[in-house]
Amino acid sequence: WLPDDAFAAIGSRRVVVAGDGALTATIAEEVAAATARFGGAFSRLDVGDGVSDAELVLTLAPSLVEPVETIEVSTRDASAGSGAAAEVSGIDESFRFMREAGAVVVQAGTDAGLLHGLFHVVRLGETAFDGPDTDETHAPATDLRMLDHWDNVDVHPTMGQVERGYSGGSIFYDNGFVRADLSRVERYARLLAAVGINRVAINNVNVHEHEARLLTDDLGDVVRVAAVFRRWGIRVHLSVSFASPVTLGGLDTSDPLDQDVAHWWVRAAARVWDAIPDFGGFVVKADSEGQPGPFAYGRTHADGANMLAAAVEPYEGLVHWRAFVYDHRQDWRDRSTDRARAAYDHFHPLDGAFSENVVVQVKYGPLDFQVREPLSPVLAAMPHTRVALELQVTQEYTGQQQHAVYLGQQWSQLLGFRFWEPDGVGGGSPTVADLATGRGKAANDPGTGRWRKPAGGFAAVSNVGDDEFWTGHPFAQANLYAYGRLCWDPTLDPGALLDEWVGLTFPGAPDAVGEAVRAVLDRSWETYEQYTAPLGVGFMVRPGHHYGPDVDGYEYTPWGTYHFADRDGIGVDRTVRTGTGYAGQYPSPWSATYESLSTCPDELLLFFHHVPYTHVLHSGKSVIQHIYDTHFEGVSRVEEMIGEWSKVSTLVDPRVSERISERFAEQLRSATEWRDQVNTYFLRKSGIPDERGRTIY
Ligand code: GCU
Repeated sequence: WLPDDAFAAIGSRRVVVAGDGALTATIAEEVAAATARFGGAFSRLDVGDGVSDAELVLTLAPSLVEPVETIEVSTRDASAGSGAAAEVSGIDESFRFMREAGAVVVQAGTDAGLLHGLFHVVRLGETAFDGPDTDETHAPATDLRMLDHWDNVDVHPTMGQVERGYSGGSIFYDNGFVRADLSRVERYARLLAAVGINRVAINNVNVHEHEARLLTDDLGDVVRVAAVFRRWGIRVHLSVSFASPVTLGGLDTSDPLDQDVAHWWVRAAARVWDAIPDFGGFVVKADSEGQPGPFAYGRTHADGANMLAAAVEPYEGLVHWRAFVYDHRQDWRDRSTDRARAAYDHFHPLDGAFSENVVVQVKYGPLDFQVREPLSPVLAAMPHTRVALELQVTQEYTGQQQHAVYLGQQWSQLLGFRFWEPDGVGGGSPTVADLATGRGKAANDPGTGRWRKPAGGFAAVSNVGDDEFWTGHPFAQANLYAYGRLCWDPTLDPGALLDEWVGLTFPGAPDAVGEAVRAVLDRSWETYEQYTAPLGVGFMVRPGHHYGPDVDGYEYTPWGTYHFADRDGIGVDRTVRTGTGYAGQYPSPWSATYESLSTCPDELLLFFHHVPYTHVLHSGKSVIQHIYDTHFEGVSRVEEMIGEWSKVSTLVDPRVSERISERFAEQLRSATEWRDQVNTYFLRKSGIPDERGRTIY
């Protein structure tokens, strides 16, 4: 997004930028370039100077700065207390948008806020100037809006350079070094700033040997990267290895309760903040999939996280500590171990034990970024902890940027989910977005009636690489776009975000292009779900790279992602009564809703229950017929998507169009393969023919 033409409305007007600060300089550059291109006029003034004939004024207004925001956190249960007031500190990024007689004034207390205001005007285009008079204040839902890069400095022997990256190599690293030329990073930072992202972790959570040194020997390179992001109001974070005191420091332990270890981290943090004063903090994947952690020393995750938190606390640094902790060396014969339970079992007992500057970063589902999972119960179970919702923009399990899959609808649904409401939507208790942002009614702690804040915000795995179109599939850009915008305002409509993205990406294109994008992407998440793993069962992907179907690919492996299909039935019994007990990790009413076969939603049936193929869904279909029907329909829908796009494919840049058709060909091939493998597998297992007699091999 943001080609030159996206600035036409601003560029053709008389624009004033007033104020100082690094980001105001960035704004001034943007505006000057646009006015030079489109024939407008640009002036840079001091705050308060007369600006009578300007059509757009972007001005700092320091009086608008709120020193420290205080949020009343209300309680759901009125009898439990009057609500806790919590301090939320951070840069004020809000801005005011005023329009009077077609002239627009954007005011912000900080230059960061003003930058967001600029991009707000860019997004609105001409409509910024032609609506009725207005005076609006816009503020982000949370201070913590982060993207995590799973980039390695070196090319990893099996994972490549970007782990789960489908867009080429890293934009940060080349040939074992941070790139000398960071101009691409600069363009990236601009794109992120335009959607409201304000923090970026620049290396993989699996921290390999070389990458660990970004914290120490290679810090100078991180300084360069941070300088680029700083111009766009974005702070840099690093993923660090918990074993660093041993691997980098030469100590013989990384025990978080060891004084030398704690001192090592204190010194490491001091060096980092000395070099990068606005450094954001550390991201840690500990005791997970082979990464080192506190368990090796008999310590808890709170011990580990708090030790790091103390080291970064003098700089207001954060520790993003990931809750993705489970046994990846499980015995598939052991039915009592359930990977889905693991994060809650590890973290719920630690609620209240984490320091104020620890953010526990929780994947949205209990397994691993599947196309359909229930919300992780950890999100509802840690009222005294800063909890961040972690999403995956990179499409590891959703088509790897070969398939056109827009995730906006999925995220919007997750963000709007209410753990304490029977239907998950209505009612007055907090949404998942409220829990992550601390806004709204973020409270349901039976003990105190309070949800302790500040909140943990959002984090997501980036889908960007050095690919010509940034994201492999040009349509995958829409996911990055939507993620940023939903972090800013989780209530935004995902379809409207697609329209915004189209407007900023193909400015001036005929309406038919936008209509085709909507026709392709609006239902694409659902379509992908249809032709892949049914009814919430998940996985069924090829082991290792996770692309394409392999129904039994993970069935007898140690990874804990099973479907238990046999000739009689399929699904995982996660009930309290007869299964692994996972359903009991939810608060009421969802624990009961998931527990019961009669109330469990169809789309999650096989996540919670093992049922015969003849089990009849709420939809009225049997499980086996649902599998057949959705797989046939999913492929037909891909054919329709291709048809819709073909009507407009010549209306966009031929290179974009060529890439899209190449990806569509692969999506159709792959969807057909999914359909045939899944249908054939279940026909052979169940022996039950398709009611409609279609071809199943
Ligand atoms: C998934 C993914 C890994 C990644 C892990 C994580 O399991 O396949 O590549 O490291 O998630 O989130 O840490």
